[in-house]
Amino acid sequence: MRIFFTGGSGKAGKHVAPYLAAQGHQVTNADLVPLGHPGVADLRVDLTDAGETYSALAGLATFEELDLPEKPSYDAVVHFAAVPAILLRSDATTYLTNVLSTYHVLEAATRLGVRKIVFASSETTYGICFAQGERRPLYLPVDEEHPTVPEDSYAMSKVAGEVTARSFHARTGADIYGLRINNVIEPHEYAELFPPFLADPSLRRRNLFAYIDTRDLGQMVQRCLETDGLGYEVFNVANADMSVAATTGEIRDRFYDDVPVRREMGRDETFYAIDKARDLLGFAPQHSWRDVLPA
Ligand SMILES: NC(=O)c1ccc[n+]([C@@H]2O[C@H](COP(=O)([O-])OP(=O)(O)OC[C@H]3O[C@@H](n4cnc5c(N)ncnc54)[C@H](O)[C@@H]3O)[C@@H](O)[C@H]2O)c1
Repeated sequence: MRIFFTGGSGKAGKHVAPYLAAQGHQVTNADLVPLGHPGVADLRVDLTDAGETYSALAGLATFEELDLPEKPSYDAVVHFAAVPAILLRSDATTYLTNVLSTYHVLEAATRLGVRKIVFASSETTYGICFAQGERRPLYLPVDEEHPTVPEDSYAMSKVAGEVTARSFHARTGADIYGLRINNVIEPHEYAELFPPFLADPSLRRRNLFAYIDTRDLGQMVQRCLETDGLGYEVFNVANADMSVAATTGEIRDRFYDDVPVRREMGRDETFYAIDKARDLLGFAPQHSWRDVLPA
């Protein structure tokens, strides 16, 4: 597929855009800064500008495309560009950047006839990650039916993005899949970040003790590109296990003793349910911190 990938120079995108290129896709990275990966075309675009976004999505990706008989169009859009947390920019700028860029990408893509759009939402929509004080899930495991009423600017922008995406699906019928991505971990970060997590699981409370490996995030996006006809859907995206050494039962007893558990859970199973992604997309995470560190 010819893919317009936004935010490909960032932490997640710099793994996922090359992953897609390695699957045989032709990938254009639309970002404020270039990625500089040989298999991915770079285009500098400010997605908060509607005209720039439309122009980039309607335009050429490479000089080689000048030799084609006709200007090609994009088959899919993967939208990762964002201010990816609170406390990086002002709350107002975080909200504005994310809401505006998501609207512009969705509007331009659907007006240009793109029929598959995958966009980054976030675990923070459940309101736990950036809550003032402690907020617990209403039930376990947390699935996509769990309420999303966050109180911080970043997660609000992601909930707004989901609502906007659902409406663009209603307007156009395009397949639009939102990924409620958990904490993104690059392969080199296990050795660096995880020893403290294994020693003190409370460090992972705000992420529901979950994580997602960048390679498995790549697989998830590829599965979304391969699977047509679902309409508008959101999916939790996490690895199958916990990001801590304690078992699921031990963590539940220590942190969530009063939270209802809706189904039996595996010994090390994530509280961040990925059943929907498994069932509808065949998502099967392959990587774990356990491959790198002794439990
Ligand atoms: N990192 C995580 O743990 C995590 C977790 C859940 C969801 N997400 C979401 O996944 C996506 C990727 O996150 P990340 O960690 O790679 O973030 P990142 O900040 O590392 O990368 C985001 C990229 O978007 C680009 N960008 C920002 N504003 C732009 C604009 N106006 N126009 C064009 N490009 C712009 C930046 O230059 C950057 O390269 C984001 O949507 C983020 O909200 C990330």
